[in-house]
Amino acid sequence: MCGIVGYVGGRPCRDLLVAGLEKLEYRGYDSAGISLLTDGHVETVRAVGNLSNLRAAIGLDADTPVSAEGGVAVATPPATIGLGHTRWATHGRVTEENAHPHGDCTGHIHIVLNGIVENHTELRRELSESGHAFSSETDAEIVAHMIEKHYDGDLTEAVRNAFAELRGHYAFVAMHADHPDVLVAARQECPLIVGVGEGETFVASAIPAFLAETRDVLGLKNGEIVTVTPEGARIVEVDGTPVEREIEEVTWDEEAAEKGGYSTFMLKEIHEQPDAVAETITDRIPDADSVDLSELEISQEFLNDLRRIVIVACGTSYHAGLVGRYAIEQWARVPVEMDIASEYRYRDPVVGTNDLVVGITQSGETADTLAAMRLARERGAKVMALTNVMGSQATRDADTVLYTRAGLEMGVAATKTFTAQTAAMYLLGIWLAQSRDAWPPEKIAEVIAELKGIPSKIGTTLASVEERVRAIARSHAEARFFLYLGRNIGLPVCLEGALKMKEISYIPTDAYAAGEMKHGPIALLDESTPVVCVATDSPILEKVLSNIAEVRARGADVIAIATEGNTQVAEVADQTLYVPKTDWVLQPILAVLPLQLLAYHVARLNNLNVDQPRNLAKTVTVE
Ligand code: F6R
Repeated sequence: MCGIVGYVGGRPCRDLLVAGLEKLEYRGYDSAGISLLTDGHVETVRAVGNLSNLRAAIGLDADTPVSAEGGVAVATPPATIGLGHTRWATHGRVTEENAHPHGDCTGHIHIVLNGIVENHTELRRELSESGHAFSSETDAEIVAHMIEKHYDGDLTEAVRNAFAELRGHYAFVAMHADHPDVLVAARQECPLIVGVGEGETFVASAIPAFLAETRDVLGLKNGEIVTVTPEGARIVEVDGTPVEREIEEVTWDEEAAEKGGYSTFMLKEIHEQPDAVAETITDRIPDADSVDLSELEISQEFLNDLRRIVIVACGTSYHAGLVGRYAIEQWARVPVEMDIASEYRYRDPVVGTNDLVVGITQSGETADTLAAMRLARERGAKVMALTNVMGSQATRDADTVLYTRAGLEMGVAATKTFTAQTAAMYLLGIWLAQSRDAWPPEKIAEVIAELKGIPSKIGTTLASVEERVRAIARSHAEARFFLYLGRNIGLPVCLEGALKMKEISYIPTDAYAAGEMKHGPIALLDESTPVVCVATDSPILEKVLSNIAEVRARGADVIAIATEGNTQVAEVADQTLYVPKTDWVLQPILAVLPLQLLAYHVARLNNLNVDQPRNLAKTVTVE
């Protein structure tokens, strides 16, 4: 979840760029940099770590008020055009060389990029063969060289031609030393917004980066290229067709801007899920038929001798682990045991050298999960942390780390971190299956193709269900109890839906394996009980349908989550919410979305603060 800010205009822009980057810090990053153009030269300063390191590198320490001039790395007279970037490492380690901006061979072209260029390996090879030299390990640097390859005096044309050869999801901004009043930017699946001021123009990955300077914005769509000058912006499609776009005025205040125009962080983060999942999976699927988790540095010998996987986690992270268990057992045929971290650590568990213990913790700081991981490590197990936070304690306590890349989550209720964790567990399952030859390659290729399509299906689901979920929430906002029922991969979705509902709406909930209902919970049902059933396509859908019929027979109101195209579920449920078709093991990552929204809208209808529910903290560090 990187951040972009660019400026062209009449004011010295170094401090505007740094201030813009500060507004994008919430997205999370591990390095940062700026490039400034003056007198036909581009100067670049990059630093690993947070923005105070960048400020120090450009001669602004954190305690010094930002001034318009000065700074050791700043050319004189002050630059009035430049680029800034915060990077969250995907391709290449966290180093100064890999931080953006990146340049071409001549040093004239500089770019900043968010997202991932999927065909970077083949482009790097082609460019190397024609003599281009690279100074970083990143996919982003390729783009600077691609623009160089196509450059013939016209920066927009060079960007347009380079853009046409890229694949993936990304947004970038380019600057050329010979064009001191032009930035050219392009967007494919990653956000990019132009801010139009008086004699100056900004381009950024999110509005907060320039909201203090202008409220007039132009949004870009996929496949569009924009040429930005102090006078404004000109948009074309990739084939060169001009695009007319009206300037819109942003009416949000600063606080709303941080929420991206959404009324709460939680809703914003729900809508960030396509991005969070795409960032987590894309570069780990380098080609159509394999997953690459070589970053884990787990030997083939260990994988051959692997006896079982133990997953330890708390709360929502535990639920992501449960989904992972189904995936790993289904695809890789490795037995998986699940444990609540606070139970595991006090249980004197049997664990040893041929076990892989996976601690899932978005914060990387949850005391019980850390203790469980440490205990397993002391007993000789290999310990992997699955976390969202670089440098967190979990990363130091583990033998190996798999990062989710969901960006900073401000809402206390975990949403985008859950889907990112689930996606990471899918990657782990596929990688284990292929490394242990546990599953036919053609089946692996099929599920990989489905997994790659998940980010866009998350976007489609959110857009298609929200209105209906809101209506359902209205009819049940005063319910005194919600029951959630599911089987197999539907069960963790229910557990997660029920947790979301109780933590933000304070309405009691229970989540049960649907087959267990007749052993007790059926006594809870009456006409006032909303029952949420996860009934997406799977080999046990028939069984779930029978459970729904049992619930309906007690007069309860069934809200079902079904797969598009299915007609049986709607025949037995009162209300049916559809999610797109995909491989049945992947359905949880889509099925959870309506349940997040349901909890959200029920809580909002009850005027509750969803970002800060009572008695809860984002990180639980007490034992
Ligand atoms: C629920 C929620 C919590 C966390 C749990 C573990 O919305 O956020 O249940 O999932 O406290 O936190 P991490 O993943 O940081 O270890």
